[in-house]
Amino acid sequence: MTYEERLQNVAVLGAAGKMGSGILLLTAVEMADLSLQPENKGKSFVLNAIDVSPEGLAGLMKYLREQVRKVAEKKTVWLRQMYANRDDLVENYDIIDEYIFDVLNVVRPVTSMAAAYESNLIFEAVSENRDLKVKLLGDIDKNSKNNPWFFTNTSSVPINLIEGDAGLDGRIIGFHFYNPPAVQRLVELIKTEKTGTDVVEFAHAYAKKLRKIIVPSNDFAGFVGNGHFMRDALHGIKEAEALAAEKNIPLYQAIYIINKVTQDYLVRPMGIFQLIDYVGVDVVNFILNVMNPHYKDEELRHELLEKLMEQGVKGGQYSSGAQKDGFLKYKGGRVTAIWDIHKQHYVELEKFKDECDEMMGDMPDSAVAWKSLLRNKKKDELLTTFFNDLKAASTLGSVLAVKYGQRSKAIGEKLVVDNVAHNIDDVNTVMLTGFFHAYGPVNNFFD
Ligand code: 3HC
Repeated sequence: MTYEERLQNVAVLGAAGKMGSGILLLTAVEMADLSLQPENKGKSFVLNAIDVSPEGLAGLMKYLREQVRKVAEKKTVWLRQMYANRDDLVENYDIIDEYIFDVLNVVRPVTSMAAAYESNLIFEAVSENRDLKVKLLGDIDKNSKNNPWFFTNTSSVPINLIEGDAGLDGRIIGFHFYNPPAVQRLVELIKTEKTGTDVVEFAHAYAKKLRKIIVPSNDFAGFVGNGHFMRDALHGIKEAEALAAEKNIPLYQAIYIINKVTQDYLVRPMGIFQLIDYVGVDVVNFILNVMNPHYKDEELRHELLEKLMEQGVKGGQYSSGAQKDGFLKYKGGRVTAIWDIHKQHYVELEKFKDECDEMMGDMPDSAVAWKSLLRNKKKDELLTTFFNDLKAASTLGSVLAVKYGQRSKAIGEKLVVDNVAHNIDDVNTVMLTGFFHAYGPVNNFFD
């Protein structure tokens, strides 16, 4: 089966979810682009968007429409060539509307799993539950005559376990996108000992068409990206607890401080508590629960996360993409308050922010903002100056930041020692391209 034939009938399971909708968008665009090629004229391309939630599927179609418009606006020259024989499409907006129609035309939103029985390629992005994944993939395989390939987006379950339990020998691979899939350039690729070379070759070809960067990970629970993120998040939670005890301040104030340290002082796109909210407190907790039994020498769980879940504080996003409240409360994309786990309500930032900022001390004048660094040719120079100034300072904010940077580096190094990542470069690439960091965690800044 050629690359094009494989992509003529595809299914995405969990298509209305956060990761599923991004995978669906990227795949729909790739399939529509193939269908527009002269050599594929007359061939059908079908993308089954499968999800249990009809409301979620309605939201998905809205998301697709908006995102495909942005995609189309960036490639009007190519689209003009593809639609060269269409005299009715004159203005750019005619061409963009036609392309949106063609992409959406590929997509079949359905709630029935049976739609996947005809597919050659299945992307799995359902919730992080091994039994559910095994059942769904096993059922599809039993009911299909196509010997389909399974690309699972699991964020933590070892692929060989799904492969064995669902009886998919050689036809499954971990193809792990990062959130949001349309933006983050990383795909982690996880082979099992049995994954076929044709599956791997296709995975590389498909990732290349999507302009993604592939980093291989060995098949250990959490892989490289979540292997780093989960430990970094646990460190953040523990640091907040320790700070609250040491300074005798409420935990919500310590959460504010650690979140600010991890965003502004470490020059990251989001603070660690904001990132937990973004991924979802519940999702982070699920991932930790999957990872924990696989790492006997570490305790990869934290009761604070369980407590938040019990209190109904889960983070994640609405289908519109807006952020739900979690550790932090959001209004119009901005943080306005922090959850008080003891009194079970949000405390407005204005009530304590100035006091905490004063406790942290001033940031060095050399401080740089994450966004300003992304395309800055002097990035390394600016970061070196800033981090050297941090190391020389004795303010609470600088001390916490240097300690955090060192811990983040140690986590990265251990991923190589534990044989999860092949090498340090891979760890750094994962954090640069999957988490949009401005620098890799294993660096000379925090020696
Ligand atoms: N779909 C499509 N595009 C999106 C999007 C989405 N869901 N969310 C954001 N974007 C686009 C915006 O439209 C904007 O595009 P433009 O430049 O063409 O206008 C661009 O991304 C930047 O967005 P914003 O200007 O609104 O905001 P930021 O510059 O702050 O970037 C962010 C937002 C890309 C989310 C950035 O804050 C970020 O990268 N944060 C870190 C996220 C992260 O760490 N992800 C990994 C989580 S772990 C994971 O996914 C693994 C899993 O297994 C748990």
